[in-house]
Amino acid sequence: MSGGSRGSWSGHAGFILAAAGSAVGLGNVWRFPYSTSQNGGGAFVLVYIAAVLAVGVPIMVAEVLLGRSTQRNPVGALRALAPGGGWPLVGMLGVVAGFVILSYYGVVAGWTFDYLFMSLTGTLQSGASMQSVFESLTGSPLRQICWQAVFMLATVAVVARGVEAGIERASKVLMPLLVAFLLVLLGYALTSEKAAEGLSFFLTPRFTDLGWDGVLAALGQAFFSLSLGMGAMITYGSYLDNEYSVLRSGCLIASMDTLIAVLSGLVIFPLVFSFGLDSTVYGPGLVFVVVPEALLRMPASAMLSTLFFALLLFAALTSAISLLEVVVAFLIDEFGWSRSSAAWGAGGLIFALGIPSAMSGDFLGWADRLASEVMLPVGGLLIALFVGWKLPVERALAGYSGAGGSGGFTLWRLCVRFVAPVAVVVILLQKIGLFG
Ligand code: TRP
Repeated sequence: MSGGSRGSWSGHAGFILAAAGSAVGLGNVWRFPYSTSQNGGGAFVLVYIAAVLAVGVPIMVAEVLLGRSTQRNPVGALRALAPGGGWPLVGMLGVVAGFVILSYYGVVAGWTFDYLFMSLTGTLQSGASMQSVFESLTGSPLRQICWQAVFMLATVAVVARGVEAGIERASKVLMPLLVAFLLVLLGYALTSEKAAEGLSFFLTPRFTDLGWDGVLAALGQAFFSLSLGMGAMITYGSYLDNEYSVLRSGCLIASMDTLIAVLSGLVIFPLVFSFGLDSTVYGPGLVFVVVPEALLRMPASAMLSTLFFALLLFAALTSAISLLEVVVAFLIDEFGWSRSSAAWGAGGLIFALGIPSAMSGDFLGWADRLASEVMLPVGGLLIALFVGWKLPVERALAGYSGAGGSGGFTLWRLCVRFVAPVAVVVILLQKIGLFG
């Protein structure tokens, strides 16, 4: 973000790259396969994709539109459009969600760092079983806290200097490289012995295995993976200029994100079945057990696992940056903090908040569910209600169109007013048990 006092993207491509960088992260490669394995497979995937289309894309468009038309952080954006009401509290909820998510996100990203280090030093290739490698890492709070600290330092260092063109340029190379790497793994996975069983688990919907818990998990995964419901896209949209279609941008970001999630699933599940593993027992360790296991069987495995975890780490970093940026933009705009004090102050506090997640996997799981199954859906619901019902239609149309056309406006507004809110409310109420 250079130029202007708040900074802005170097054009539309810069925004798309940064927003896709936010969306694509551990959510796709770590969380999506693990959630799928816990919720019965194919039916989860189907509900997930429906949630992305019917809820995710409309809310993504709503967030980008809010940011772009106000050029403010989430709290400031809502205050600018609805002065005097309680709506800025929705932005506050987002800032709080940013704290919660980044606290444990830093821990999982720290695992990635540790695996990168083990690949570089050859420890991963030492012959130990991948399950015991993962368990010895998660059994050591100190080791996790150290790597979490390293990761948070990297995140703060980038955000403190402003999300410069350097990140945009690196994303342009490294994101396609991650896709290419997944495609190589896909080739290996699909030719593995029991690939068909894995594909059947991942792609055949069996709704009896899902239940409302699974539906809520899929909805939460959609919010998490698309970086929605806490104002990250409001913040990134606030650095975007007026010329481009918010709908096309939203669809593009959502397709890239979904492609990478599905690709990860297509890699992981054939491998799980071919290695004779039980995917449901690994929980959050799924990717960290299964992928290294596959890489070990390939030639030049030390190099490949180094590359894989480096790419995953970069994807995690660009996501973490967007989480911290929400908090930092808030502190800069609302309290006049300098960018660097905001980044170091918030980053330090978030690091401390993450320590319980490094000490207990149960705590990490709890924080993760609180964020993705409560805070993000509620935040997203309120954003949809604000844009669909509170914002006058002329202002919504003006924000939607910018200097471009208004194609798709009616369908989008229908989704934001009715489809998305009803879906979120029904799923949350079902979960609470209100319907019986
Ligand atoms: N979407 C990121 C991922 O999939 C995580 C993330 C970044 C996020 N920013 C967010 C999640 C904002 C929710 C809200 O890894």
